Amino acid sequence: MPRLSRLTDLINPSPTLTLDAQVKALKASGADIVNMGVGEPDFPTPDYIREAAIKAISEGFTRYTPSEGIIDLRQAVSDKLSKENGLDYKPNQIVVSNGGKHSLANIALALFQEGDEVIIPTPTWVTYPELIVLSGAKPIFVPTLEKDGYVLKPQALSQALSPRTKGLIINSPCNPTGMIYSKEDLLALVDLILKADLWVISDDIYESLIYDGAEFYNLPMVAPETLDRTVIVNGVSKKYSMTGWRIGYLAGPEALAKAVTKIQSQMTSNPNSVAQKAALAALTGPQESALEMVKTFGKRKKLVYEFLSTIPGVVCPEPKGAFYVFPDVSEHYGRTLGGVKINGSDDLALVLLQKSLVATVPGSGFMEDRAIRLSYAVSELDLERGLERIAKLLA
Ligand SMILES: Cc1ncc(COP(=O)(O)O)c(C=O)c1O
Repeated sequence: MPRLSRLTDLINPSPTLTLDAQVKALKASGADIVNMGVGEPDFPTPDYIREAAIKAISEGFTRYTPSEGIIDLRQAVSDKLSKENGLDYKPNQIVVSNGGKHSLANIALALFQEGDEVIIPTPTWVTYPELIVLSGAKPIFVPTLEKDGYVLKPQALSQALSPRTKGLIINSPCNPTGMIYSKEDLLALVDLILKADLWVISDDIYESLIYDGAEFYNLPMVAPETLDRTVIVNGVSKKYSMTGWRIGYLAGPEALAKAVTKIQSQMTSNPNSVAQKAALAALTGPQESALEMVKTFGKRKKLVYEFLSTIPGVVCPEPKGAFYVFPDVSEHYGRTLGGVKINGSDDLALVLLQKSLVATVPGSGFMEDRAIRLSYAVSELDLERGLERIAKLLA
């Protein structure tokens, strides 16, 4: 066979999706696995959204749409940003793509190139570094600390800046830590962002999943002067339990939206026409079911956090959003558990999967080996079973 491209060597597969495929295969073979590794809500997509999709099919809405997405949906996103975030984006500043992940890939290709550096606070979602590498730019990892609520501090940002720095990624609520940036956290970064002339990618995909009265802010909400250098990414996957429908969007300066549309028009054309109609229904229809899901996640968060806090050697900062907990389990490193010497998060996650039948994600993939990520997007019954198994192994 002739050689594959250099790019294929540079990019790693998504560890969370690889794990999920393994877990699904184990489950299919009859293993009683509790899957706390997943990054998707366990609820069905609400009925009114599914019905909108069925209607779209019945009415023959099955042809190409504009590459950037149908105008009704972009208008609905514009209305959402105005109503919920107080931000003024016209439909021509919005591009709908095949999931938030696709929006992020488009943005990386439209903004960055070889020679550029992009700052990624860690722990980080597994995909950002790969997309930055895909663009030709270099990811610069800046650790954030548990004592700071895993939030990027100006001093750390300042130390990481170089004349090549072109962008910064902010993900709040954060996957994997569940932490959120407060107004003050964001304001503290503004001067440096402006001085260094950075693009900021604000990944707001978990915006609606926040608990205990916490408030969501993104950069342009607190600092309107950053509007022309910020790109907001969001989508319907997490809020409306629509992971498989693959609809996400970006909002940013018009020139960027045009550039992304150009790229998308050559790569994928439009996102799925029927899924766009479903997303339109999601954004404009009754929001009660989405609010119910948040309430349920909030209850589960409490259950998981309180349980983990009782396990010796597990230090768990209380998450404020998303549906993950990211406990530090490093006190257990060096022990032999289930017959295996535990040298880090990979070993622990493997023993948890193979001996305790609980799927978790090792923190190594998120660039924080001291922790493992547990998702509470699973039923309360499964959560209790999974947590008991973890406690038993670590006892
Ligand atoms: C932090 C973060 N951003 C973006 C996404 C993308 O979600 P989707 O492509 O389903 O919209 C995910 C999904 O896991 C995520 O965790």
